[in-house]
Amino acid sequence: KKRTIVTMPGDGIGRIVLDQAIRVIDAAGFEADYVEGDIGWEFWCNEGNPLPERTIQLLEKHKIGLFGAITSKPKDEASAELSAELQGKGLVYKSPIVALRQHFKMDICLRPCKTYKGNPLNFIRRGANGEVEEPMVDVPIFRQNTEGLYGGVEWSSPDGIVYDALMTHPQFVKNFGDVPKEELSVSTRIFTKHATERILRAAFNHARKYGYKSVTVCEKPNVIRETSGMMYKMAQQLQKNDYPEIELWNTNIDAQMMWLTKNPETYGVMVAGNMFGDILSDGFAGLIGGLGFACSAQMGESGVAVFEPTHGSAPKYASYENSIVNPIAMIESACMMLDYIDENEMAQKIRKAVAAVIEDGKVRTYDMLKMAGRPDVIEKGAATTEQMTDAIIARL
Ligand code: NAI
Ligand code: MG
Repeated sequence: KKRTIVTMPGDGIGRIVLDQAIRVIDAAGFEADYVEGDIGWEFWCNEGNPLPERTIQLLEKHKIGLFGAITSKPKDEASAELSAELQGKGLVYKSPIVALRQHFKMDICLRPCKTYKGNPLNFIRRGANGEVEEPMVDVPIFRQNTEGLYGGVEWSSPDGIVYDALMTHPQFVKNFGDVPKEELSVSTRIFTKHATERILRAAFNHARKYGYKSVTVCEKPNVIRETSGMMYKMAQQLQKNDYPEIELWNTNIDAQMMWLTKNPETYGVMVAGNMFGDILSDGFAGLIGGLGFACSAQMGESGVAVFEPTHGSAPKYASYENSIVNPIAMIESACMMLDYIDENEMAQKIRKAVAAVIEDGKVRTYDMLKMAGRPDVIEKGAATTEQMTDAIIARL
């Protein structure tokens, strides 16, 4: 049976890169029907809702979404005014991608960071004798996607009950007990055992399936004892009982950000809570070429999964005509979708084509020429979005 994929181009370059990704999976032989789901700024302006109910229903029905990017701030004065008018009517803009994540409880986010040979943006370092080394990074990062510090449980001046509860905590009384309630802002970091076990198991299962020798929990358990500490303890139990063949490593987020510029090739699968996972994945993505290459998957118990590049709508580059942005992050996100629906061979075929084009070096989008922000790059030999896609398709 042919699958139906919900395409959500969103705003700006979202539609540009999504179209290219579909061209590539199509050329690789993937057969599917596509239905478009409305999402983004246009729908906020026209309907007061950037994530219309009909889009949610499409995903409920078809389960698999390919998402481009959205814009979450007005691009010009007219749209700023319109937006202000809507807010005046009591409507509140809420990021539709966060809303999707919450609605479908997509609690697992995977962001693989793998070096492409020959990418001029690859991280290089000096070895002990001053020689230049280019470490080959291959680090899939599992980020808890729904709770932790981004769970949205926050107060500026905590309400009565919360304040009373805080005042029963000796550490709070000692350090903050004399601060007037009105001067307090509190953001909570909530970890549940259920979600923590799910993200840990996802990481271990991935290591097992793809042959990584280690899983690293990257938190701060010695300081944030109750949440980071719980995650690490649970990881130890899981490793001992269910994944004895996989090594469990434990690093602190701060030290890890330093080590990733020293020995990034040492690490296998990494797993972290929401905010540390966010930081970690941006850090590692920087080593392999940045936004033009960073892909991601969001999955959960509801069975709905959405695949998207990490970058946003890059309004500066949003003109469809002669677009110059890099389509690879979106194409790689589509490969993650293929993996998810067990079309691994097709995904591998596309990845090989992408790798070959990068290694070959003849076709480079502007970001690979380190000319980001320069409008004259096309004349300087940078490929357009379409030319990059053409080159990848030619290699399939
Ligand atoms: P951005 O990721 O859209 O762009 C930042 C810069 O990165 C661009 O100006 C460009 O130089 C470069 N870039 C991004 N994607 C690229 C690609 N495929 N190829 C080559 N270069 C690329 O982030 P920015 O400018 O902070 O945000 C723009 C809008 O996107 C905002 O409204 C923001 O809220 C939204 N956004 C949406 C996200 C999403 O849909 N998941 C994620 C991040 C931002
Ligand atoms: Mg981020």
